[in-house]
Amino acid sequence: MVLIMDLISIRDVEKKTIEELLDNAEKIHKGEKTVDLKGKILATLFFEASTRTKLSFQSAAMRTNMEVLDFSPGTSSLKKGESFTDTLKTIEGYADAVAIRHAMEGSARLAADVLKVPVVNGGDGGNQHPTQTLIDLFSIKKIKGKLGGLNVTLQGDLKHARTMRSLVYGLAMFGANISLIAPKGLEMDEKYLEEVKSKFGLNVRTSNTPDYSDSDVLYVCRIQAERFADQYEAQSIQQKFRIEKEDLKDAKEELAILHPLPKINEIDSAIDEMPQAKYFEQAHLGVPLRMAVLEYLLR
Ligand code: CP
Repeated sequence: MVLIMDLISIRDVEKKTIEELLDNAEKIHKGEKTVDLKGKILATLFFEASTRTKLSFQSAAMRTNMEVLDFSPGTSSLKKGESFTDTLKTIEGYADAVAIRHAMEGSARLAADVLKVPVVNGGDGGNQHPTQTLIDLFSIKKIKGKLGGLNVTLQGDLKHARTMRSLVYGLAMFGANISLIAPKGLEMDEKYLEEVKSKFGLNVRTSNTPDYSDSDVLYVCRIQAERFADQYEAQSIQQKFRIEKEDLKDAKEELAILHPLPKINEIDSAIDEMPQAKYFEQAHLGVPLRMAVLEYLLR
């Protein structure tokens, strides 16, 4: 088994390691396992906005008895012109692990190259968000009892959403059947899909028209407006590509609806009250999952 020092991309993680992380997260969640990382410090470096990733990393660290150092780019010496790498080299002496989010694709890999302490990618531009994928796999496994053979529909801005790129890879690794639904022009990059197909023999369908009739899981993401040059275009697509309760009338009763959040208006808020809506439960599972990740990287 290849041990990883950093968690930068889901592509770096072997299936066996993912299974181990999901098993540990399950034990932590059930109260059958405790993690003690007393004496260690986690630095959270978020150069892009976040609620769930940053706070659940901080919560996970606190629940493993770690201390947390939160870096605020807006009040840091970056404002005086200090470089990204000098900032990282400085923080290396203050913390035992780093969780980082940055708008630049490849930034987390760069941070891992610069830093000797473990680095976790909390999202680098439209590229990867590996701990979100682990949460998604953990959530699906908890709700459905398995990952292989499920019909999973991914809908939304598949061109820009790092959560979707990461998740397609993770689902393919575990043998799910995947349907991709995106507005025209926001489909997932073909080259990336080809890579996943050649590695795992991915069974995938792509469409611009929603159809959930055979879905076991519907995973939705918002239009990633921050990656659009034209905000009017982003808003206009967002208004049109929206799921109403009515759209789910032909769906299976046991459908599970997931979303990495934040959601804007791609899902009617009336859906929140349906038993199929599992996205807040999914967000909460981020804590035990990230506790398992911190243990893995720091043990
Ligand atoms: N799912 C997720 O990454 O949420 P945040 O952007 O709030 O961290």
